[in-house]
Amino acid sequence: MAITRKVSNQISEGSWIRKMFEEGARLKQRFGADAVSDLSLGNPDLDPPAAVLEAMQKVASQHPKHCHAYMPNSGFPATREWVAEDLKQRLDLPFNANLVVMTAGAAGAINVLLKVILEPMDEVIVIAPYFPEYRFYIDNHGGKLVVAKAGKDFGLDLEEIEKHLTKKTRAIIINSPNNPSGRMLRADGLKDLAELLQWGALRTGRAIYLISDEPYRSLLYDGLQYASPASFYENTIVVYSYSKEYSIAGERIGYLAIHPEAQDGKELFDGATFVNRTLGFVNASAFMQRVIVEAGHVDVDFSPYKERRDLVLTGLEEAGYNVVKPDGTFYVFPQTPTQDDTLFVRALQKKRVLVTPGTGFAWPGHMRISLCSDKSVIERALPVFKEIFGEFTKGDHG
Ligand SMILES: Cc1ncc(COP(=O)(O)O)c(C=O)c1O
Repeated sequence: MAITRKVSNQISEGSWIRKMFEEGARLKQRFGADAVSDLSLGNPDLDPPAAVLEAMQKVASQHPKHCHAYMPNSGFPATREWVAEDLKQRLDLPFNANLVVMTAGAAGAINVLLKVILEPMDEVIVIAPYFPEYRFYIDNHGGKLVVAKAGKDFGLDLEEIEKHLTKKTRAIIINSPNNPSGRMLRADGLKDLAELLQWGALRTGRAIYLISDEPYRSLLYDGLQYASPASFYENTIVVYSYSKEYSIAGERIGYLAIHPEAQDGKELFDGATFVNRTLGFVNASAFMQRVIVEAGHVDVDFSPYKERRDLVLTGLEEAGYNVVKPDGTFYVFPQTPTQDDTLFVRALQKKRVLVTPGTGFAWPGHMRISLCSDKSVIERALPVFKEIFGEFTKGDHG
């Protein structure tokens, strides 16, 4: 075998999201795109905002000397300044360009950070349900994944987190608003979490870093204001990606920003800059770094996602599903009427409706519906959700 057993196993355990994506492609080829409702993938389908597209055109037409050349591995100083200023305004904290590293999306940033902070078998707590790639990222850098379950309505369960704090705990990844539940963590819970982590760090004598993975932080509905862990906990590293906000996931642009008062912040920055290079990213896309600055502050209209969320919620509730209303993101995460969510998802698939089973997010008995498809696709899927729910509650599936 050319590839290692480990990679081979990882591929076959694989991500459910990918599996559903491939299944969608197969069904679309066989029956035609209009006959399949693919609600599996979180691939933003809105057009990028006009201001971002215009910035791309402008940047493409200008060629200052060395604009396409190698740069400091942490990114263009002007872009890092812009990011630090943006965070300063958002969070009222003195974020500093010297602690910002531009990265290949949030995925790149998390990998860089884990590489920098993990000693072999150091533990990283993630809160289920969680973005399944974390498992691979942690493994990439010799860490150990530790799963703590979310509490009521996908909020924080501090007792559960406390149970999982050990001498080996090095980091916790917080993803709010959350993929897949869509829930945003509230300020009071984050404050209590900060106290718990401070206590945990005192007990073990070394810092516990909080990686705040927040690519959906602008995607909030119903007038909610984003609550950031950085407001409460100094050892926070903000991880951001423009993928979701600007619908530019293929362009791979994001950053990590170390809290201005983080323990050993300068060391973390130096480590991240070095590792950004040696992991092979070298630097984040030069073109996109210039675009981010050129575009400036962009107000994005997320109302199509909100409309789809409301449509799905109404349809599911009418059909009888239990569902916690998402605060943001473009996902809805209802309970399936059986704990065997993969069986349920397969029944939907037979009717050419594709969603991702909760098992893929370490949260069985649920399914993730992505809102990255036109309203008409959702409208086509809703009667199927109702029909299959009815079959399962009548016991037709044993
Ligand atoms: C929670 C979460 N974190 C990180 C990422 C990775 O983002 P990017 O592809 O922009 O690096 C995603 C993408 O779906 C995500 O949902």
